[in-house]
Amino acid sequence: MNEQQRKEANQIKQENPTDVKSDLDSNLDRLKNMESDELIGKYFQSTYEPPNLKKAKKRRREDVEIHYDFSIPAEMQRIGEGKKFLIRTYGCQMNEHDTEVMAGLLTEMGYETTDNTDEADVILLNTCAIRENAENKVFGEIGHLKPLKLEKPDLIIGVCGCMSQEESVVNKILKKHPFIDMIFGTHNIHRLPSLLKEAMFSKEMVLEVWSKEGDIIENLPKVRKGKIKGWVNIMYGCDKFCTYCIVPYTRGKERSRLPEDIIQEVRHLAAQGYQEVTLLGQNVNAYGKDLEFEYGLGQLMDEIRKIDIPRVRFTTSHPRDFDDHLVEVLAKGGNLLDHIHLPVQSGSSEVLRVMARRYTRESYLELVGKIRAGMPNATLTTDIIVGFPNETDEQFEETMTLVREVGFDGAYTFIYSPREGTPAAKWEDNIPMEVKKERLQRLNALVNEQAKQAMQKYEGEIVKVLVEGESKKNPDVLSGYTERNKLVNFKAPKSTIGKIVNVRITEARTWSLNGELVEEVAEVL
Ligand code: 5AD
Ligand code: SF4
Repeated sequence: MNEQQRKEANQIKQENPTDVKSDLDSNLDRLKNMESDELIGKYFQSTYEPPNLKKAKKRRREDVEIHYDFSIPAEMQRIGEGKKFLIRTYGCQMNEHDTEVMAGLLTEMGYETTDNTDEADVILLNTCAIRENAENKVFGEIGHLKPLKLEKPDLIIGVCGCMSQEESVVNKILKKHPFIDMIFGTHNIHRLPSLLKEAMFSKEMVLEVWSKEGDIIENLPKVRKGKIKGWVNIMYGCDKFCTYCIVPYTRGKERSRLPEDIIQEVRHLAAQGYQEVTLLGQNVNAYGKDLEFEYGLGQLMDEIRKIDIPRVRFTTSHPRDFDDHLVEVLAKGGNLLDHIHLPVQSGSSEVLRVMARRYTRESYLELVGKIRAGMPNATLTTDIIVGFPNETDEQFEETMTLVREVGFDGAYTFIYSPREGTPAAKWEDNIPMEVKKERLQRLNALVNEQAKQAMQKYEGEIVKVLVEGESKKNPDVLSGYTERNKLVNFKAPKSTIGKIVNVRITEARTWSLNGELVEEVAEVL
């Protein structure tokens, strides 16, 4: 149904209120009029363990179970034939990759993908909880989907991802948006086929959020977004508990995949012609700490660099766990690329202490020195939070001087956003919004200036670009990234897409480079 048809349908419904009733699933009406306690008590047949932040913090290192025997229940294997799904993804690369898994599950069930909400039979919102504005976007989208659900009662709408792990969010959906059909957590993705079945056949809201994590399901199907760059999880969860961060609660404890499973996945991608992999984890430098044998990110990278794939990246690093062995391995170069994203969060040791980052300004700078010594060509990017509770002007100035001293090529900068259940949320959010905004503006001006200067160094240089496709703004122009993660736009035949080519840089902008193709193919696998 297009926009016009939807408007007309709504008009007809408004003029004929009885039609509205008959159109709607009666269950939906019941749900709409209920209070959330009543809903939980009467309507949830599935396992309901409310997300419990206190409990998450007390978790121990129980054994991680690894499963290799996942399969889609027989009765769900063809349930999606002739139907379509749409997944909206918010937030980080971890979420993007989870979406690839959910797309894989739905595709195996016979569903096809669509990007038109009117055509979809299943809509999933894969949500992000990192800051309040991320959550507000999702609630806005939930509101937009309501008229569609009212028109199409058989449409299944699910909310999953990090927001589902938060008790307050689940309660808000129950109270304000009871037309949602399914809520499931980040540890329940592999349960999607069974949850969908329940939602379809029981016609009651399905809620499954496990506070318990620990299982790794190895053989889940995936439909990857492209055929050039692929994501590979190396670990799940985070045990750092930085005082501002919701991730250790929404993503659970650190669980590393076995090295052989990761290596096999990277080999498989290489064999399929992928040119680049990004190894993913919330805190990749803690990789291996929970394994039963001595193994770390350094060893893993040393294995992966031997695989015949042109480019390997990893994200996100934590300065505390970034050890000398990793620097040594990365210094070997080859397919290990010269770019490190190393979130610093603040340049003040005192703020870092209250953030529980477990490093100081001095030790961060020392690490930067080691990286620069081992990898003289490496570019560094970072994440910074401004306006953390009690951050003084002087402490903010320390962030400014650190940014200058390191000379980051880029930074993601954020205004502190209190997240319920984190230790920092109990402290007064006492930096006025105007001050936070002013600090952010000054920081961004510096970051932009440094980014531009870093770009200017490339003018006249020849760089290797992995061609990803047409540029977003102009289909006649192709774009891709350099080894050091700089976006380059240039004209070249479409046949270069998916290949690594040499490009001469003709013009530097703040966040991208313009160039011209030097020779058609620099490297082909
Ligand atoms: N407020 C603002 N920024 C945050 N980040 C994480 N939690 C918060 C928060 N509560 C930022 C950090 C992190 C990035 C992914 O998001 O900088 O590195
Ligand atoms: Fe959050 Fe800190 Fe873990 Fe990063 S390391 S995910 S900021 S708790």
